[in-house]
Amino acid sequence: MQNLPTAEIYEKEFRYFPWGILVKQIEDIVLTKAPSDGTVLDLMCGTGYSLAELHKKRIDLVLTGVDLEPEFIQYAKAHYRGIDFVVADAFEWQPPGKYNVVLCMAGVHHLQYEKQEPFIKKISKLITDDGLAIVADPYIDDYKDEGERKIASAKLGYEYLIATIQNDAPEEIVEAAIGISRNDVLGIEYKSSLKRMKLVFEKYFATADLHKTWPNHDSEYGDYYFVLRNPTIT
Ligand SMILES: C[S@@+](CC[C@H](N)C(=O)[O-])C[C@H]1O[C@@H](n2cnc3c(N)ncnc32)[C@H](O)[C@@H]1O
Repeated sequence: MQNLPTAEIYEKEFRYFPWGILVKQIEDIVLTKAPSDGTVLDLMCGTGYSLAELHKKRIDLVLTGVDLEPEFIQYAKAHYRGIDFVVADAFEWQPPGKYNVVLCMAGVHHLQYEKQEPFIKKISKLITDDGLAIVADPYIDDYKDEGERKIASAKLGYEYLIATIQNDAPEEIVEAAIGISRNDVLGIEYKSSLKRMKLVFEKYFATADLHKTWPNHDSEYGDYYFVLRNPTIT
């Protein structure tokens, strides 16, 4: 059981988690790169926060969000008009067509490890020929076995918790950060390493530009996003 926070707490996390920096950068890329009247798909969109920010600034974009959690989609539909929200398993979901932009932020690590590569492959087939995908996740240090994976997860969790506390987060947000770390260490969520995932992105896309948004010192763990273009034929 993944123990996700309520929609209200979830929306507040963007203000206190380092993740908020990454989400803002991705929003800026989509705002400048999406073509007029373009289509944007957000897989594992949570409460619809990112799509809502895009809708405020680019009313021409046709926006679709998919999430497994009915409570989040209910919240999204109630709060954000003019966006199509769907309750579905993003791994199984069959899209009606291709999209100019496909986003998946903090989503891949919710899929079991064996599903992650097929899911990236699926994303590569969802974008139009001139489209782009942006896939973001927190990554842990690389690991050789389950013991090292647990320790790498604990390290990410510890650093994330410190950063959240330093941002003066209220108690419920600090608790949410602890919950994420618990899920990672216990193997309830499936965070991978940058080294492992980079190989997967490079297999399915001709260009995979890497960006790191946190921490701003040398580390392997942290928040990263890939801007992906030109799917390879596999
Ligand atoms: C950490 S949140 C990320 C939400 C948002 N994209 C963001 O950047 O903050 C992960 C989301 O993935 C959703 N999720 C987990 N597994 C899923 C699946 N198989 N299909 C669709 N959504 C899924 C959860 O319900 C949750 O809303």
